[in-house]
Amino acid sequence: MRESPDPVDWRDAVEHSEATLADAAGAAKECRACRLWERGTQTVFGAGNQRARIVLIGEQPGDREDKVGKPFVGPAGRILDSALDAAGIDRHTAYLTNVVKHFSWEERGKRRIHKKPKADEIRACRPWLEAELAAIGPELVICLGATAAQALLGTGFKVTEDRGKVFQSALAPRIMATVHPSSILRAPDDESRESELKSFIADLAIAARVLREAVRKGVDFGPGGEASMERRE
Ligand code: URA
Repeated sequence: MRESPDPVDWRDAVEHSEATLADAAGAAKECRACRLWERGTQTVFGAGNQRARIVLIGEQPGDREDKVGKPFVGPAGRILDSALDAAGIDRHTAYLTNVVKHFSWEERGKRRIHKKPKADEIRACRPWLEAELAAIGPELVICLGATAAQALLGTGFKVTEDRGKVFQSALAPRIMATVHPSSILRAPDDESRESELKSFIADLAIAARVLREAVRKGVDFGPGGEASMERRE
């Protein structure tokens, strides 16, 4: 086994342009900064467009993501994809990641059930997230669910009260939170599922509009003359 990398060193190296995001992703494969690596199949680093203006941040990889090695490729990812599409955000122009990069789970019968990551696991993983944000430099960060929102906006943050509101942050010029797509899957019936999906799409549509306005104000137009979701350089 290779030596465990220090996520802080990698974050600093990315911030000082001494390492790329791909270098950091490679190093994170060997991360042992908390105990989650012992039960996870692999590190699930963020993935997507490295020139993205929008970065979406979830909680941690799920069962499917743990096996595939990519974020949001399971049932929650499918809901997210369709909501992004409905809100006018092409997933391929965004970057997706999680506050914790290993699957935390407990056994129930034959199933691996999601276990909420602990504060020290979130803390241990934080430098990887900071490295991702430093490398990408998004205009807007969207926190999906309470774990991501409280990790980035403070432990007192209430998604139910402050979803869809745009804040400033040291991590990105704009940051907002909405629900986690898996909460829509857990809705008790079709009617509430439909209404929660609608609200989720409405939050993402706010993000799309805020971003278009910001880009327009910066007079940065994409190839078709439209404000682009992706930086051009
Ligand atoms: N839930 C998350 O928070 N992230 C994923 O990547 C998948 C499910």
